[in-house]
Amino acid sequence: MKHLLRETGYDPKQTVHFGNKFLVANGYLGVRGTLEEFGKKELAAINLGGLYDQVPGKWREPVNAPNPFFTFIRVDHQIVSLLTHKPQKHQQSLDLYTATHHRETSFQIKDNHVTVKAKRTASAAEVHTLLLEYQVTVTKATHLEIVTGIDGDVWDINGPHLTDYQMETGPILQMTATTQAKGEIVSVGEVVISDQQYQEYFTMDQKQLLRHLAYELAAGETVTLQKQIAIYHSHEASDPRGACRPDLEGATEASIAKAWQAHQQVWQKRWDLTDVTITGDDEADFALRYSLYQLQIIAPHHRSGLSIPARGLSGQTYKGAVFWDTEMFMMPVFLHHDSRLVRHLLQYRIDSLPLARQKAASYGFRGAFFAWESQEAGYDATSDYNVVDVFTKRPQRTYFKDKQIHISGDIVYALKQYVDYTKDESLLLAGGLEVILEAARFYLSYLYYKSEKDRYEAIDVLGPDEYHERVYNNAYTSKLIQFTIETAVNLTDALAMRYPAEVAAIIEKLDFEEDLFALKVIADKIYVPQPNSETELVQQFDGYFQLEDTTAAVLRQRLLDPKEYWGGAYGVASDTQVIKQADTIMMQYLFADEYSQSQLEKNWLYYEPRTEHGSSLSACIYGLVACMIGRQDWAYDYFMKTAQVDLTGESKTFAGDLYIGGTHPAANGGAWMVAILGFCGLAIKNNQVTLQPRLPKKWAQVAFKIKYQGQVYQICCFHDGAKITPLPTTAC
Ligand code: BGC
Repeated sequence: MKHLLRETGYDPKQTVHFGNKFLVANGYLGVRGTLEEFGKKELAAINLGGLYDQVPGKWREPVNAPNPFFTFIRVDHQIVSLLTHKPQKHQQSLDLYTATHHRETSFQIKDNHVTVKAKRTASAAEVHTLLLEYQVTVTKATHLEIVTGIDGDVWDINGPHLTDYQMETGPILQMTATTQAKGEIVSVGEVVISDQQYQEYFTMDQKQLLRHLAYELAAGETVTLQKQIAIYHSHEASDPRGACRPDLEGATEASIAKAWQAHQQVWQKRWDLTDVTITGDDEADFALRYSLYQLQIIAPHHRSGLSIPARGLSGQTYKGAVFWDTEMFMMPVFLHHDSRLVRHLLQYRIDSLPLARQKAASYGFRGAFFAWESQEAGYDATSDYNVVDVFTKRPQRTYFKDKQIHISGDIVYALKQYVDYTKDESLLLAGGLEVILEAARFYLSYLYYKSEKDRYEAIDVLGPDEYHERVYNNAYTSKLIQFTIETAVNLTDALAMRYPAEVAAIIEKLDFEEDLFALKVIADKIYVPQPNSETELVQQFDGYFQLEDTTAAVLRQRLLDPKEYWGGAYGVASDTQVIKQADTIMMQYLFADEYSQSQLEKNWLYYEPRTEHGSSLSACIYGLVACMIGRQDWAYDYFMKTAQVDLTGESKTFAGDLYIGGTHPAANGGAWMVAILGFCGLAIKNNQVTLQPRLPKKWAQVAFKIKYQGQVYQICCFHDGAKITPLPTTAC
């Protein structure tokens, strides 16, 4: 079915992959797609977005909450679960339309056929609420015990983060714990309602609090348990323990049914606007819908000032940090459906301004240098030693934090996109302009004036291709710097016409007058590498073309260990032209209007064979530019690779010795970009919605909606044209 992800059979080797693939989440927390009887060994986790903790000497990472879905059964006093018994049948599925995880497992226990069915979700209507329905059917008279409660022995990569567990039993089972570093409180409470008589007792150990429900079932009987859960932490409530109670007290079967319904209604509305239907290619149709699902579940619809980590809410990898992934790869799709959500995300960067200023100052610069791996309030979690050498086991110095200065420009780019699309300038007056001006000021103090050439250069930087550190004049970075400075100057001038008092106040507050003048002076002297007049190639950075010219396949053969890191001081790629991900091509995609078709094509043809696609951010950009040059036949494979990344699980899970698995929301956003901005050629030109379809051969039609300036448009793209209908009329 086009909205049902289903896997049959049980293979323990897939547990980690399925934990990502079957994720349910609601922007506030993510529930890994593990099964109810699983624990930390199987990487079961409820990942809390935006709540971080650090154990001394280890990396700072997001906190996983105690797991209130933890449930298993005893059949005639014997534990029966996937960890103890081979199932007769097993199936796990995810309904994308209702964001609900299902499992159905049956066991043959002597002559008793026992079936466990469960469905669960993280409510989209009330993000602190989680719901579980657990059902057991037996074919023989059985003494059945359902053991369900809260497992506080959570999976951590750099933990343990929770201490000082407090437990309460009674109609509400509750576990409250405190984080190590900052003493944040996390509280999880649950109630259960059963449709059958039972005997109940509780057990607890240091980190586990369980309810044992004992039933005497007749042959053929089914017992159904409804569970409602509340999770609060101290970012959300001053008394997280107390905050859980009202949600749970007085829960009834009917109120739980209502909670399920409210959740489903939110999703129905969401899909009504965001769904995309590709006719003629079921695999692509499903993969894109799944990508959209992954994005929708992790987006902070409920709260402004939260953003989306690079691995979504699938766990603690990448320190649960927010990268440029959000602004450059996820925002485009959100912008076309829900500008309020984009504001939530941008607000996170506005709130991060104080720490971005501190970061710039710590390197001796002025202005705002945003965190490369950004945690709450913009705290930069990037380690100086991000990779461990597989041979010596020594941490390797990397310069992602110090030199990936394009991050400030990426944020400016996203702010400008938001304003261009929505025409909402209020965000600029409420902090957005400050971000832009401070980013420009940072570049002003970073740029190096080369007097003999009378130009400003960006020296000692790290572009998107992380394998080549500390390079000079990376085309992507320089272009983003130029863009930032031009945007700062132009937007300030334009806004000052409409809001003179407000803009004057901002300039005064930032003491920006002189810098504004300086920015105007240097704006057209910033050196951005240009296409060579003969080859039409843009050099990725100074000296790149002189490096050994080889391919990723050749480098792969040179590896002494498959987990070797390719970049850094002595990585196999460092002294070659092999790059990790789209870099110059990313720049040409963002500023495509400034390049001829021939220039785009020549650069694509040059860089693609030299790209490892070692980041999930890479394939979509090559796909997009392939569409722009009319080579949708080349673009198709990049689209599928991007759209299926979390379905196949085929992506890098190690960088050196470091586990980096999880979901890939940037690639999910990239899938939508290739399909809609690439194949359908959607663009806003002169305030008009325009389309230039160049569909892959297999695709007969693509139908989707966008919201632009408050108006919803139903769009259908065909090989020979497109139909745009302002709703309420439905067109397809
Ligand atoms: C990529 C970065 C990306 C990060 C998080 C890295 O492997 O090189 O561009 O931001 O992963 O997705």
